[in-house]
Amino acid sequence: MDGDQVLKLKGASLHIPSALPATVVVGLQWGDEGKGKIIDFVSEGFDAVARFNGGSNAGHTVVVGGTKLSFHLLPSGVMRNKRLFIGNGVVVDPEVLLKELDDLASLNIRPDLLISDRAHLTLGPHKFRDRFEEGRRGAFSIGTTLRGISPAFSDRASRVGVRAGDLLEDEALKMAYEAFAGWNRVLINEVYGEDGDAIVKDSFAKLKEVAPRLRPHVGDVSAEANDLLSKGGKLLLEGAQGYFLDIDYGTYPYVTATHTTASYAPAGIGIPSQSVQRVIGIIKAYCTRVGAGPFVSEISGPLCEAIRKKGGEYGATTGRPRRVGWFDAVAVRSAANSSGVTELAVTKVDVLGGLEKVPVCDGYMDAGRVVARPPSTIVQLRRCRPHYLEVPGWPDLSPEEWRDKAKGGIGSLPEDLRSYLKMIESSIGLPIRYVSYGHDRADTLELGKDVS
Ligand code: GDP
Ligand code: IMO
Ligand code: MG
Repeated sequence: MDGDQVLKLKGASLHIPSALPATVVVGLQWGDEGKGKIIDFVSEGFDAVARFNGGSNAGHTVVVGGTKLSFHLLPSGVMRNKRLFIGNGVVVDPEVLLKELDDLASLNIRPDLLISDRAHLTLGPHKFRDRFEEGRRGAFSIGTTLRGISPAFSDRASRVGVRAGDLLEDEALKMAYEAFAGWNRVLINEVYGEDGDAIVKDSFAKLKEVAPRLRPHVGDVSAEANDLLSKGGKLLLEGAQGYFLDIDYGTYPYVTATHTTASYAPAGIGIPSQSVQRVIGIIKAYCTRVGAGPFVSEISGPLCEAIRKKGGEYGATTGRPRRVGWFDAVAVRSAANSSGVTELAVTKVDVLGGLEKVPVCDGYMDAGRVVARPPSTIVQLRRCRPHYLEVPGWPDLSPEEWRDKAKGGIGSLPEDLRSYLKMIESSIGLPIRYVSYGHDRADTLELGKDVS
């Protein structure tokens, strides 16, 4: 109760708890900003790391001492041996999760993992429906990861989902699966014209097979997370995707099926919203996007190819080539404002090394008029043209040269890179706290409040 306030009102008292220490990490672009890398780096100072949104559509890469691992469901604090939570806001594909656990077991890592009993499961029929829907949309397909994410969230909203907690009791599983199977059977038979019976039966058989392995990991994540916070523990909340893939704030309909904003983090894990003290917004030094949808600062041609190649811009989940564009300050400013970002982490500054000039999109123009924030419709967004500011580029350095320079702190990084970082700070109006210049955990600089 240290630091708590008790206000005496007439005959009653109002208890205001001191803020509890939770930190949220979110992507401020279109996903793949390097969240996994930064979460692994910062999680050293936390007791537990929790995923709060998305599902196995996420692919978060962590590289430690040259060993590279990609996580789709396990929180990226796993390599730091932290307590791990998967919150109610996540849809969990049992097969993907068990494979991740098996892969780690082969490295002798056995995570201390708790999955929320309220988290919905992504099952076979969801993946079938995702594929079918994408096919049905034809030229207007979203370019989903085909991981069954949108159908799983749809079933949650339609109240026919199966939740992790249902695995704990045969009666609960039977009841939930009947509702799930009833709806999915009708949908697949009658709308998609396929054998819905066979698909739901096969999925049930698989679920029963894996249930015994999942059960020990299922519990009340909200209660555990609150308990940890009330004992003074520090919780790190790991966002998946990025702001512009948010179901409401993204480039709808070219978005994912859940919220990706920091404000969703407390709801997706079940902790009070006032627990969140810090929000770290991750930005890549340029932009990428996988799948379809408007992208104002997108580029093409040889330079785009070169950045894609140098940055390894291929999806960690699907292997698809990522689309590439220049840093979009209009988009990031609006994302950072809405998500209440308190500090920024900039990744992949090494990838842009060697360019003579680096363009930055500092304005959107629609028919000669300035558009201050990304508009809500894709029709207007597609009309927006980027206005670019050009800043001098910095040298192309080898990984060893970057490490060597970083030893001297931010002041030893190339001057033009420091100017670029300062320009980002002033255009977004937030301090940069972390700068990442390579894949590995070690290739990260933590700064004070300002870039000197
Ligand atoms: P996430 O989804 O936001 O966690 O990002 P991904 O893991 O999907 O994609 C980021 C990719 O960039 C991964 O391959 C990372 O290893 C890599 N990466 C992260 N930071 C840096 C960096 O500063 N420099 C370089 N060259 N690669 C980085
Ligand atoms: P991380 O957490 C990049 C994109 C898909 C598609 C759209 C909808 O690694 O940053 P979905 O399968 O969610 O229905 O696909 O969202 N998408 C991502 N793009 N990074 C991700 O996650 C993504 N998760 C979904 O490419 O355009
Ligand atoms: Mg990713």
